[in-house]
Amino acid sequence: MQMNRHGQDGCQMGRLVLAVLASGQGSNLQAILNAIAEGRLLANVAVVISDKEHAKVLSRAREADIPAIFIHPGAYATRDGYDAALVEALNRYPIMLGVMAGYMRLVTPLFVEAYRDRLINIHPSLLPAFPGLHPQRQALQHGVKVSGCTVHFVDEEVDHGPIIAQRAVPVIEGDTEETLTRRILEQEHRLLPEVLQCFAAGRVGLVTAGGSRRSVFISES
Ligand code: GRF
Repeated sequence: MQMNRHGQDGCQMGRLVLAVLASGQGSNLQAILNAIAEGRLLANVAVVISDKEHAKVLSRAREADIPAIFIHPGAYATRDGYDAALVEALNRYPIMLGVMAGYMRLVTPLFVEAYRDRLINIHPSLLPAFPGLHPQRQALQHGVKVSGCTVHFVDEEVDHGPIIAQRAVPVIEGDTEETLTRRILEQEHRLLPEVLQCFAAGRVGLVTAGGSRRSVFISES
């Protein structure tokens, strides 16, 4: 059994230096920034990167004086080429953890390898249920009674990798995709800063047992 405690050799205790990757509204970025401003999260966001030029997440970053970078997918012939540019942009900052918060591009093994165990994603379902697009719609179509959100380490598969934390959200009679999405998003805004503070406090650990099977633990404070 091999143990890698981020508190010791990954994320150092103290202020966590983050990069946020996002394609949309950036309400999760805002939740992170609010938590930092209110002292609930000991971190700073060094850079925000998007694959969408006009994504609101970029204007939110600029308003907060955070470098906001658009990397144009059309400028690269291959996904590997795009992700190499992404890694190059990220490597200009002392990033301890990359946070995919509504980042809609599929990441390549090249990127995953470069940020192995330093890249997390938030997804609006209780994984492994409903990976991919429209997870809230999938939840309603399957008639599940409970959905929620998941924060997990990123690996080579879509919305897959060791699960760090989850929060359940009951599906209510009469829920639409919009109402369920809104209630799950409210929980994302709580869960993500809490998980990040666990990283900042060195409380997130990854355990490798029996080859590639890995699980996550969050130690008591
Ligand atoms: C969130 O529901 C996130 O989990 C999903 O996309 C949404 C992004 O929301 N992958 P925002 O851009 O943070 O407002």
